[in-house]
Amino acid sequence: ARRVLGRRNLVFVGLMGAGKSAIGRLVAQMLEIPFVDSDHEIERVSRMTIPELFESYGEPEFRALEARVIRRLLRTGPRVLSTGGGAFMNDAIRATVLSNGLSVWLKADLDVLWTRVNKRGSRPLLKTANPGQTLSDLLDLRYPVYEKADVTVQSRDAAKETIAAETVAAIA
Ligand code: S3P
Repeated sequence: ARRVLGRRNLVFVGLMGAGKSAIGRLVAQMLEIPFVDSDHEIERVSRMTIPELFESYGEPEFRALEARVIRRLLRTGPRVLSTGGGAFMNDAIRATVLSNGLSVWLKADLDVLWTRVNKRGSRPLLKTANPGQTLSDLLDLRYPVYEKADVTVQSRDAAKETIAAETVAAIA
C-alpha cells in the first residue's frame, strides 16, 4: 500500500462521524507515514476552534481557510490526511485531491454516523432545530460527490482497527 502511494497523500473524505480521523490515524501507523488532520491544522493556524471560526467569521471564511490549508498540506507527502466533511464538496479542493492524492471515502450509514456525532457537540453544521434531519439531508447531498473518491470503504459499526485494515487492503 505504501508503494502504491509513492509520494502522494492518502486523503480521507466522508461525512462527520465516518471515522476519518480515528481510522486515518491508524492507517498512518500501519503505513508508517505521518498523519495530519485538516481541521486540527486549521485550528492550529487560526488559533481558534472550528465552532469559534464558524461563529466569528462564518462558513465561507472557514471554507476559504480550509482550501488554503489543504492545498498546502497536499504539496508534500506521503502522509495520511483526514479532511473535514465539507472539504471534498469544494470543487477546487476536490480537483486538487483527485490529481495529487489517493482519496478514500469512508462511507457510513446514517444510524452509525448519528450515534457518533451525537456524542460530541462540536459540529456547527448540526446546530439546527432538527440535527438528525440535517445530517440526513447532508448525506443525500454529499454522497453523490463523495462517490468520486478513488476508493470507497464501508465504515460499518466494527472496531476501528478492522476498518483501518480493510482500508489498507483496499488500496494495496
Ligand atoms: C464539516 C465537518 C467538520 C468540520 C466543520 C464542517 C462539514 O469536520 O470541518 O464542522 O461541512 O461536514 P468533520 O467531518 O471532521 O466532523
